[in-house]
Amino acid sequence: MDKSTLIELLRYACRAPSGDNVQPWRFTWDGVRLSIYNVPGVHNPYLDFEERGSYIAHGALLENLRISAPHYGYNMEFELFPDTKHTELVAICSFSRCAKNEDELFFAIKERVTNRRPYKIRELTESEESTLYKTVANVSGTELYIAKNRKSIQKIAASASGVEKIILEDERMAEHLFSKIVWTDKEDREKKSGFFIKTMEFNFVQRFVFRLASKPKIMYFLRKIGLPSFIAKQDAVLYSSNAGMGGIVISDESAESFIFAGQALERIWLTLTNMQLAFQPLIGMTFVAYKTETGRGDLKDAHAKQIEEDFKNAKESLGVTSGILAMLFRFGDAEKPSVRTRRRDPDITFV
Ligand SMILES: Cc1cc2nc3c(=O)[nH]c(=O)nc-3n(C[C@H](O)[C@H](O)[C@H](O)COP(=O)(O)O)c2cc1C
Repeated sequence: MDKSTLIELLRYACRAPSGDNVQPWRFTWDGVRLSIYNVPGVHNPYLDFEERGSYIAHGALLENLRISAPHYGYNMEFELFPDTKHTELVAICSFSRCAKNEDELFFAIKERVTNRRPYKIRELTESEESTLYKTVANVSGTELYIAKNRKSIQKIAASASGVEKIILEDERMAEHLFSKIVWTDKEDREKKSGFFIKTMEFNFVQRFVFRLASKPKIMYFLRKIGLPSFIAKQDAVLYSSNAGMGGIVISDESAESFIFAGQALERIWLTLTNMQLAFQPLIGMTFVAYKTETGRGDLKDAHAKQIEEDFKNAKESLGVTSGILAMLFRFGDAEKPSVRTRRRDPDITFV
């Protein structure tokens, strides 16, 4: 493959989602094989752990690469973690020639977007449900769970929003959150990564309050008057507006399994994009819950208890009785988002 084709292909791959749009990847190309490396430590240290968020993002990246390669006349195969001593090397990809053709999810790659607007509340149709199950049927080691019952959906939404109360009440987590926000168009154009405030779809008042909350002294008072609980309750209502909520369950907590979860996530998201439906991942809660459950978290006791309850409720409402619930999401009909996130050019070393 020539360099310009490789760069175009990687531009499609890099449209993959990543937590706070951190884009935790870099590449080397030796003329035949593409090595994909994780850039460690770039995710929120309070929400992510053991690079799980990055591995999910790499799963989505690999799926985009696999889907895009036939457009350029190649089939792509990959080996995960080929060198056990260097876990930063996530995958080695090889390419073989094929007739140019388009995967049915190819055109959705550039359309896919996180949509944080309110969605219309409605029933999921049988055909939508079976399409979603079909799209992940072949992603190894993953299982899709969909909640359709309104009571269950409300419980999952409340559980997923609970972590926001914790983030805003915990000084360290709040400070980290506000330090990562990209506040202006100019900064967003320059950085092309990070958590751009406009993607939150806040109204004028919400945006003003959020800006005030970014000042630690003001946040101190806002905590006293219960702002974190108020925001979490509002988000519970927002998240319960949808046509359905879902969860991706993996068989174990290995890095490979989180990559598979990312592949499933991307396939579901692209499929919903083709169906003109909006999507929002809700992942913070599951990560904090596992960190706490395995004794690696450092939350205050009340917060640890809350996240444990939230996680238990989410699993029960989704009907998950075994395996690892890697993430939650909601989907439905909504207006298009007002802005799109940018991407840095792929960081490729040619060797
Ligand atoms: C591992 C992971 C965790 C994420 N967690 C959340 C989340 O909890 N809430 C949310 O609104 N978006 C979440 N996102 C979406 C990212 O913020 C989004 O993909 C990124 O900002 C790029 O924007 P885009 O998806 O519109 O291209 C997550 C994405 C990934 C891959």
